[in-house]
Amino acid sequence: MFSWIGDLEVFDPILSGTETRVLESLGCSILSVNEQGRRQALKPTLFFMPHCEAELYDNLLQANWRSDMLNRIILFGNSFETYEQYGSVFKNSNVVNLRKHILAVRRFTKEFGIKTVSDDYFQAFHDLSWHFFSIEPEMQLNIV
Ligand SMILES: C[S@@+](CC[C@H](N)C(=O)[O-])C[C@H]1O[C@@H](n2cnc3c(N)ncnc32)[C@H](O)[C@@H]1O
Repeated sequence: MFSWIGDLEVFDPILSGTETRVLESLGCSILSVNEQGRRQALKPTLFFMPHCEAELYDNLLQANWRSDMLNRIILFGNSFETYEQYGSVFKNSNVVNLRKHILAVRRFTKEFGIKTVSDDYFQAFHDLSWHFFSIEPEMQLNIV
């Protein structure tokens, strides 16, 4: 029952033909190009990206690295707070560079972690959070 949501676009490079047809029959559009997460939020958009590689979140943030676009995004994915904690472990390494937008957006992020109350849901939802961004329009975002 997706019709109340609005446009629903899906991409995963491993989607099979059957999965694609099922998703289309449910009203989803399947993106034909692998954007590596670089989709711009031209309208309020929920990105449902559980347990993706950090690089995909970073690419998404980079593609929307303006206050008006970041403010339109709700992101459900791996905890940015946890990435920040790992950031201090990986200091001076290339890993930090691949996560620089995640780390830079943290100060503008409201994060709500998911509590997995049952083992039935643990595998699907552990360490995931809702992320909301709130950036003043005049704010200069430093990195590109
Ligand atoms: C670790 S799995 C997580 C799968 C599932 N969401 C979960 O929580 O079990 C990461 C997923 O990201 C997908 N992925 C990899 N590159 C992607 C891309 N460029 N765009 C969208 N999804 C991608 C992978 O195919 C895989 O399904």
